[in-house]
Amino acid sequence: MSSLKTLYNGRKAIYGLVRKKVTGRRIPVRVNFLVTKYCNLECFYCYAEDVLNVKEIPEFTLDELKDLIDQVYDTGCRWVNILGGEPLIRNDIEEIIDYLRSKGMFIEMTTNGYFIKKRIEALKKLDHLAISLDGNKKSNDRARGEGSFEKIIEGIQCAIDNGIKVRVHATLCKRTMQGESFDFLVNYCKDMGITLNYSENGLPGIEELDPDYLLSEEEALSFYQGYEEMKAKGYPIVSSEVAVDYVAKWPLPDKTTIYKKDLADIPEDSYYPCQLGRNQCFISADGNVYPCTKKWGEGKNVGDVGFKAAWEAMEEDLDCVACKELGTIEQSLITGLQSRALVNGITNFVL
Ligand SMILES: C[S@@+](CC[C@H](N)C(=O)[O-])C[C@H]1O[C@@H](n2cnc3c(N)ncnc32)[C@H](O)[C@@H]1O
Ligand code: SF4
Repeated sequence: MSSLKTLYNGRKAIYGLVRKKVTGRRIPVRVNFLVTKYCNLECFYCYAEDVLNVKEIPEFTLDELKDLIDQVYDTGCRWVNILGGEPLIRNDIEEIIDYLRSKGMFIEMTTNGYFIKKRIEALKKLDHLAISLDGNKKSNDRARGEGSFEKIIEGIQCAIDNGIKVRVHATLCKRTMQGESFDFLVNYCKDMGITLNYSENGLPGIEELDPDYLLSEEEALSFYQGYEEMKAKGYPIVSSEVAVDYVAKWPLPDKTTIYKKDLADIPEDSYYPCQLGRNQCFISADGNVYPCTKKWGEGKNVGDVGFKAAWEAMEEDLDCVACKELGTIEQSLITGLQSRALVNGITNFVL
């Protein structure tokens, strides 16, 4: 996959963002689409757990997916991130990609890496491929299942051998942050000529969950300090310094979300307004439309009201202003057209 092709395909996503900024219209510029409920793994932190392999939930047919893509397109979206479950389990994944391509959309995918060889021809048609890997073998297998490390590494190698531009996507939580795990990932990505980003674990009610999920304030800060230092040394970390700075100056100790009711006590420059739910959303494998992983379970269903109404209803329900998770801040900065993050995003995700 050449950078030029990715840049060319990305122009519509950028136009969408500019159009949203200029007109002030609320457009779902980027949609995270769970195209399947099926998954071969049981990662301990998975936000999609409520739909994975659930017998009672019908799987989208190809025609239903095409119809949903049409609805999403008609609402102004030009940028789709294909997820699941594991999207490469679908035998028709290439047709789904072809359909998105026929509409001229920018197409990302996140995969667990197991079926890369089997689906390599489809993957060559993407604009960006993220492969989930949570550190060295010990750390990764603790989060994603025994033996998964070797399969993911095999998948990454196959994608690279086929000229696909790959990013390793790691989920940061206590279980995956074990000391040498980060050192392994930055060195591995550098050696392989691929990029790396971390996004923090996000689940509803995360502050009250098992301590395995959430880093303490000190642990998070020390992790991000190391993250910035390695980026400054030239390691291929894609997260922008501006996003890391916002995590570092997060104003609410022990809380990962700022709600509208908290605003009176918080300096305006200490957070970046979240864009999830404002210009992005998730469509889950059961058709529910959610703003983000922390508001999983709070949304309307496309089967009941259609995508446009589900998207429009979302804003009325949003009681939050910003979240502390790095991935959320990064996506908000890029889609909010914050200049430094946007340049960093284009340089690192696209070129
Ligand atoms: C839900 S998975 C779907 C795609 C594919 N099955 C995979 O694992 O890459 C998409 C990404 O979200 C990450 N993820 C899962 N649960 C998460 C959570 N609670 N918070 C943050 N990221 C999470 C996964 O590690 C993966 O990188
Ligand atoms: S592979 Fe992806 S969808 Fe499957 S359990 Fe892990 S994070 Fe969830």
